[in-house]
Amino acid sequence: MSKIAIIGGTGLTSINGLEITGREIVQTPFGEPSGPLVQGILAGHNVYFLPRHGAGHTIPPHKINYRANIWALKEAGVEQVISINAVGGIRKDMQPGSLVIPDQIIDYTISRTNTFFEEGLKQVVHIDFTEPFCESLRKLIIKAAETHSIAIIGDGTYAATQGPRLETAAEVNRLEKDGCHLIGMTCMPEAALAREKDLCYASISVVANLAAGRGEGALTMEVIEKNLNSGIDRVRQLLEAVIPSLD
Ligand code: HPA
Repeated sequence: MSKIAIIGGTGLTSINGLEITGREIVQTPFGEPSGPLVQGILAGHNVYFLPRHGAGHTIPPHKINYRANIWALKEAGVEQVISINAVGGIRKDMQPGSLVIPDQIIDYTISRTNTFFEEGLKQVVHIDFTEPFCESLRKLIIKAAETHSIAIIGDGTYAATQGPRLETAAEVNRLEKDGCHLIGMTCMPEAALAREKDLCYASISVVANLAAGRGEGALTMEVIEKNLNSGIDRVRQLLEAVIPSLD
């Protein structure tokens, strides 16, 4: 079986049911990953787990060392990565608590180091990113959800915003006009770096809130965290359903 990693997001700094068997501190040429790689057993299979905001959830999206995280996973021999991302929902069907397996990305992040290919190159490299997520992994997640009757939405365009602030209502309107369906701060440059390292990468995005201006009142961390907690149990079920099918 190929090595699998789960990158945990807001609301998933640990996984219930993950039997921890070890911790690996990985040094990388790009500095420190968000923390040690946690080795464990989930659904009877060995997995790596890396909480991208750090074990204590202290690293904000724009400060994450995405290159170190992806490099560490590659170095550990990982081939498939399931990324868990908290998002705001724009499309009507993306209500708080929904799980979305996005199929496209528009990148609005700025000033994040977003490539491994910038220094000491023998040749300039442009990766293909037409399909930013690994389609075979997306399909397996969608199939596992169907088989286990776990409600998911199997498509959506993810707007990757810079943060750490949430959006204005007008920004959300513009993102919707651009064709975006969900908004998060962490899928980029993570997905592109994973592609540069030839990792098969897909996201389970958990809708934490209606996007700014689409619900009642102001968005607070309390509301976001409460909704995430209600979605995260289904994320675990989905992980347990899909992991046995990842060969
Ligand atoms: N916007 C951006 N990122 C997010 C949101 C949001 O509304 N909710 C959770 N992460």
